[in-house]
Amino acid sequence: MADTVQLDVEDDVATVTVDRPDSLNALNVETLEALDDAIEEAEDADARALVLTGAGEKAFVAGADISYMAEMDVQEAEEYADLGHSVANAIESFPAPAIACINGYAFGGGMELALACDLRVASERAVLGQTEIDLGIIPGWGATQRLPRLVDDETARRLVYFGDRLDATDAHEEGLVGEVLAHDELREYVDELAAELAAQPATALQAAKEAINQSHETTLEAGLDFERRTWAGLFGSHDQREGMAAFLEDRDPKFE
Ligand code: COA
Repeated sequence: MADTVQLDVEDDVATVTVDRPDSLNALNVETLEALDDAIEEAEDADARALVLTGAGEKAFVAGADISYMAEMDVQEAEEYADLGHSVANAIESFPAPAIACINGYAFGGGMELALACDLRVASERAVLGQTEIDLGIIPGWGATQRLPRLVDDETARRLVYFGDRLDATDAHEEGLVGEVLAHDELREYVDELAAELAAQPATALQAAKEAINQSHETTLEAGLDFERRTWAGLFGSHDQREGMAAFLEDRDPKFE
């Protein structure tokens, strides 16, 4: 893995840190490839929660690397888009919840990676935006699809058409982030949230994530069918037996 991405796995929580603070953690090809590898390694390590964050005091991820993109041709742009989509898809389909710990600037591709996470928690210092329009392009790593699914259609259009940069409070009001924390409390809070998720019954949590993901991908009928089958498939699992026995015996469950 390139040294621009760090992976730490501790107590079933994998933390992936984009570590190019001199470029505000902008994602060049090497860093994107390293991110892809880190997420795969986190999955191999059976992480029960994934945290994505940026190194340094200023940025989560300031976006795709503009100095790299400036001279790209169509072919190179397609390859770069493929790589960005691959990372975003790996986060979205990670078999445990992913939390974006947005510790500063999250622009363009940085915001798109946050959109692929299950939960977004921001520092009060964070600034977020799909700013690609200012560069004469559009979002290319998923925001035109994931943003209208997260916020309402018009909010998504306004963010993409105008490229507005929202502070954390406005981002929260618009539904882009679930919570805003004092900067100094962000990391500890996110670590606690991740630990709490890691202690949940992992099979059920993965099933819940897959079922909710389906709601963005399919018809209501197919999604309901997916839920029905996934729900039924949990019966007979250790955690289902244990969770229900613990309730009936009035004790705390011991999940796998
Ligand atoms: N790609 C490449 N390099 C970037 C970058 C990006 N997306 N964002 C920041 N950087 C680099 C700057 O070029 C600068 O490098 P340098 O020190 O070699 O000149 C360094 O990071 C620090 O950025 P700087 O602009 O000096 O910091 P700032 O605090 O004044 O402003 C931002 C920070 C994030 C507001 C500003 O850098 C910015 O607007 N970046 C572009 C964000 C963007 O549009 N991203 C979407 C890309 S699709």
